[in-house]
Parts: sequence; structure tokens; C-alpha cells
Amino acid sequence: MERSIWRKKPMSAFEADMKKSELKRVLTKWGLTSLGIGAIIGGGIFTLTGIAAHDHAGPALAIAFIIAAIGCTFASLCYSEFASILPVEGSAYAYSYGTIGEFFAWIIGWNLILEYMMGATTVAVAWSGYFEKFLHLFGIELPTVLMNDPYTAGEKLGLNGPTPAFNIAAFFITWIVTTILVRGIQESAKTNNIIVIVKLSVVIFVILVGAFFVKVDNWQPFIPERVIDADGTGHFGWSGVITAATIVFFAYIGFDAVSTQAGEAINPRKDVPFAIIASLVICTVLYILVSLVLTGMVKYDTLDLKAPVASAFADAGLPWAVFIITLAAVAGLTSVMLVMMLGQTRVFLGMAKDGLLPNFFKEIHPSFKTPWKSTLLVGLVVSVVSALTPIDKVSEMCSMGTLLAFAMISGAVLLLRYQKPDIERPYKAPAVWFVAPMGVLFNVFLMTQVRKETWHAFLIWSAIGITVYFLYSRNKSNLNKSES
Ligand code: ALA
Repeated sequence: MERSIWRKKPMSAFEADMKKSELKRVLTKWGLTSLGIGAIIGGGIFTLTGIAAHDHAGPALAIAFIIAAIGCTFASLCYSEFASILPVEGSAYAYSYGTIGEFFAWIIGWNLILEYMMGATTVAVAWSGYFEKFLHLFGIELPTVLMNDPYTAGEKLGLNGPTPAFNIAAFFITWIVTTILVRGIQESAKTNNIIVIVKLSVVIFVILVGAFFVKVDNWQPFIPERVIDADGTGHFGWSGVITAATIVFFAYIGFDAVSTQAGEAINPRKDVPFAIIASLVICTVLYILVSLVLTGMVKYDTLDLKAPVASAFADAGLPWAVFIITLAAVAGLTSVMLVMMLGQTRVFLGMAKDGLLPNFFKEIHPSFKTPWKSTLLVGLVVSVVSALTPIDKVSEMCSMGTLLAFAMISGAVLLLRYQKPDIERPYKAPAVWFVAPMGVLFNVFLMTQVRKETWHAFLIWSAIGITVYFLYSRNKSNLNKSES
């Protein structure tokens, strides 16, 4: 029995999995691109822009978006090559299991939990911010302690620390999404397309209408001077811009979700790389323009932190625009949560089918045909964490996990070129000797810029992952059975 941590899942096993899958191949390249955009545009642009500009970058938010986009571009080219070699469901976890080895795949899967689960949590908190604004339009105000986590509520109430509070809106939306996923309403491409059109229209609306309200003075100074506050935390200056880049990096997460749909693509080898790159390019352009408009409409130090885009239009005296933006954000953020929580349960399902996680994660409901137990567990974690944790803490954990996964994928693509130069690569990352190392360096560099507390939490998470692998997954892996 081969016990090496580098053992690989054989191609024949992937083919068998794909044959068993009853998914129909219906997605075209633009259908896939639309899925990508649907997964990308969400809490990052609608909410985190507020914190990133207000606390770290000022008007240079647009530069932060460009920096984050560079890291994502390198990673997306590598992701695309990986997806074209092995166009199977299960995203980066599955590719690395088939090509690099089990332990590497495990670490990626473990980090995808941060990406998807903490990503959904972040979006749930963002959702509550826009929902609060939406209710406000109708004169409905819920108590601060019911719309915020204990830390944010404490701050808002002018207290010196946390106070008993529970973000009931974030909790509520998570259970709605969980119920939809348990009942198995397949994320139909049509519904997704409608939501994507709504989201794109609103983002373009923000750019075009907002442009009329830009005051050039608000962009001065473009990069505010660095300041260090009483507790030693730095803000602004070039370091602030880099910190902001690690925050808004979250806004790009999701292009990799396209790769999880490879099983439903008509021509996955060509169209998945196209869609990954196209969705990233489109969103980058839109994000840069939104940042310029937002920081031009409102002085950065007065930006709202919970629903900055809607608030900018409220300040400009356009309540009808606030109505449109909040409604679209509420719908758009729900769709991102659906994709993320669905992605999470699929990664769990894949890992459980390979024997790396307990059977609990692959138990299918007899009538709904969904992995209902793992969906409920994901719902429980996301709902409780989103009700009790500030948005920047969860979004940073999500970014850490994703940055590491991106760095690992970039490294893996180069390794494979060297180890298996002859396998068929329908899509090849251009200048891979430059792109892949830059993908590793850039994403690791952004990781180093994340706050110390986030690093501590991340190291604990990684230690738990490695322990689980060596105590459980390595022994239970299907590869043990097939090789014994
Ligand atoms: N990119 C996604 C968002 O911003 C995760 O919500």
C-alpha cells in the first residue's frame, strides 16, 4: 500500500466519477462567464470598499484594486491551465489530487473551506448592511444590537468594547440560502443570468450616474499621508494602499467558481479558461471605475462602512437610486452566498467521496438528492459566525485561505510543466516561467500584509488541518483501499 503523501488519484477514477455524474453539458463560454461574474461581484465592491478607503487607502482605493487584480491575473492564468488539463468538478482540490498528490490536495481543500465558508459569512454580513439600508428607506429601524455583531454594535453605541448583540439579518439570510440548497433548487443558469444582468446594470448605473456627482476635490490627496493611531495601527500612505489591496482582494474571489462548473460546460477545455479570464477582466475594469466614482462622490473619511455605495447616493440626495442599489445588492449578494455555500458542499462532497472526510459529508437526502447534512452544517457555521463577527475579520480569513490556494495552484502549474511536459494542455498559461513564480510571489506577498491576528487564526486553522489529515484522512483515503 502506498502511503506517500504524494500519491495521486488515478485518471481512471476521475473518468468514472464524471460518468456517474448526471450533469448536462449545457453551458457555453458566455454562460460560464456569466457564472463567473455572478460569483465575483458581491460584498467586495458593495461593502468592503468602505473599510478599505475609509481606513487604509483613501481615494487610492482604485490603486488597491489594480494591485489585487495583478495577483489574481497571474493566478487566473495558472488556474485556467489547470482547469484545461483536468476539466472535472471540484475545482482546485480535484486538479491537484490528480496531478500533484494527496497532501497538497488536502491543504488546498482545507483552504477552500476558508474561501467558501468565510466568503459566504462575509457576504452574509454585507447583506445585512444593505438590508438595513433598504428597511431604512421605509422608515423601519431595527435596534443596533440586532443588526450588528457584538464588536461593531459596541463601537456604534460608543462603548469601549463589545456588547451583547446578534446580527439577526445575517443569520436569517444564511438560513434562507441553506434551505434553498437543502431543497436542491439547482442554481439554474437562467436565474443566474438574470441576477448577473441586474448586478451588472447596477454597477454600470453607479458608474454612469455617480460620475455626475464626482467632486474632484474629494480625490485630494489621492494617497493620504500615513498616520499611526493611538493603538499603534497604521493607516494610509503606500502601506495603507497595500493593506487595502489585501482587503479588496476579496472582491475578485469567485472567478475560480467557473472551474467548479466544468462538468456542465459544452467545451470545458477551451471555454473554462476563456470564462475565468473574461470574468476577471470585466470585473477589474468595473471595480476601478466604481472606486474612482465612490471616492469622488464622498470624501473618503466620511464613507459609510456598512453600505458605502448606497450611502454615497443617499448623500447625493438620490433616494430613488438608493432604492435601486439596495434592492440589487440584496439580490446580488444572495446569489454570491448561494454559489459559495454550494461550492463548499461540493468540495466537501468530493473530499468525502475520496475518503478524506467522513461519510457524513456525502450523505444524500433521499428525496431532495442533495448533501443535506453537510449543507446544514455549513449553514450552522456561517449563520452563527456571521451573526457574531465583524466583517473585516471574516473577510481577511477568507482572503488568507484563497491567497494560499492561488499561490499553490500557481506553483503546481509550473511543477507539472516540469514533471509532465507531455500531457495535453488545451490552454497554456503564457510565459509560464514568469507568470507562475509571480503568481506565487504576489499572492504570498499579499498574505504577509494581512494583520497579525488574522495570521494567528490562520496558523491555528492550518495546524488543525494538518492534524486531521495525518490522524484521519490519510488512513481513510480510498487510495488505501485500492492499493492495499
Ligand atoms: N467576490 C465576491 C464578493 O465580493 C466573493 O462578494
